[in-house]
Amino acid sequence: MDAIEAIKKRRTIRRFLQDPIPFNDLKDLIDAARLAPSGGNLQPCEFMVIDDANLLEGVFSTLAWAAYLGQEGKPKEGEKPVAYIVVLINKEKQTSTPYADVSAAIENILLSAFAKGIGTCWIGSVQKEKLTQFLNIPENYSIQYVVALGYPAEKAVVEEEHGSLKYWRDEKGVHHVPKRRIDDILHHNKIRNF
Ligand SMILES: Cc1cc2nc3c(=O)[nH]c(=O)nc-3n(C[C@H](O)[C@H](O)[C@H](O)COP(=O)(O)O)c2cc1C
Repeated sequence: MDAIEAIKKRRTIRRFLQDPIPFNDLKDLIDAARLAPSGGNLQPCEFMVIDDANLLEGVFSTLAWAAYLGQEGKPKEGEKPVAYIVVLINKEKQTSTPYADVSAAIENILLSAFAKGIGTCWIGSVQKEKLTQFLNIPENYSIQYVVALGYPAEKAVVEEEHGSLKYWRDEKGVHHVPKRRIDDILHHNKIRNF
């Protein structure tokens, strides 16, 4: 799979098969994150991989899912993630671009996972204090995001927006993700409509 294909076909997944992900594959995702662009090449990001069955439920309890779908968006028993990557900033590594660095690293994780057939959900709705305590994360680290992982147990498709950017599920359970049209976001040499 080439990079463009992965970018176009990757979609957020929130229902997962319960097969474990080999640790070496998870490690490959961190390797992809490690190689992401970084402001000043200062590389403040570190990554905690959680795949111990005893820890999964504790992490899950700190996360919120698919706000537009209400309870329907939350993975049920038997479809919860089988691993997580907790994305951290090491506060001892000076940087003026922490959020850009984190985001570039996460996108590498999502695309590399997709290329391996692994589904992902980038999660910002994290109870960070609770998760910090649960995972005994020391003070010199701050949790930025969590990436939930597992082999996909749902189909998600992209579509052009029709007046709303809210993702939705059809009667067959297919997840639809509206994206803005290219002609609405591309300004060629001058800003349109001005
Ligand atoms: C910064 C950020 C935070 C997000 N937080 C959440 C979240 O807390 N819970 C969730 O279910 N999805 C979350 N998502 C996933 C988005 O809902 C998803 O990317 C969006 O609906 C577009 O779908 P796509 O990833 O398939 O293109 C987040 C995505 C980003 C980039």
